[in-house]
Amino acid sequence: MWNIEEIKKDIRSNLSDYRYNHSLRVMEEAERLAKHYHADIEKCKVCGLTHDMCKEFTREENEKIIEEYNLPKELLNSENKNLAHGFIASILVSEKYNFTSDMILAIRYHSTGYPNMDILAKIIYLADKIEKGKDYPGIEEERYLAYKNIDKAIILCLNNQIKHLKEKNIVINKMGYKTLKFLEESTIN
Ligand SMILES: [Fe+2]
Repeated sequence: MWNIEEIKKDIRSNLSDYRYNHSLRVMEEAERLAKHYHADIEKCKVCGLTHDMCKEFTREENEKIIEEYNLPKELLNSENKNLAHGFIASILVSEKYNFTSDMILAIRYHSTGYPNMDILAKIIYLADKIEKGKDYPGIEEERYLAYKNIDKAIILCLNNQIKHLKEKNIVINKMGYKTLKFLEESTIN
């Protein structure tokens, strides 16, 4: 079993103040959402805390882990940049803290979601987007929907994410489209 206080100390040195504080706020938002949707509060909190633990790794650090754990080399490609930090974190939480498979998946795909997500994965995806420190166009509606209809909230977040990335000439990883398509087809209006 993991200990949140020990994990906090453990991840601290790899994160800037900005990223560490974001992680704490994602943990808080994940806890609120877990209570609201009767999900596993401890799992939501600790996944929220650790989801970005590798986001500030250097390319060399990423290469080392990819080599060590025999992970797909494509993770280093620029189009997988956003996916890579979640993927690498999901390997480390499994190795270091014995997180369960549902937690590993929630962390691995926290930037894009994945089709047929469980409630833990949905909460981590959303908590990352709407935590209290974030401010971008459309966030108030995302926050409102997050506690009303979690699937619709994720659809809105993905659409906003795609729009925002397009403006910066970045294409969202294809997993984001797969998640969106799945949710749009399975959500009753
Ligand atoms: Fe994050």
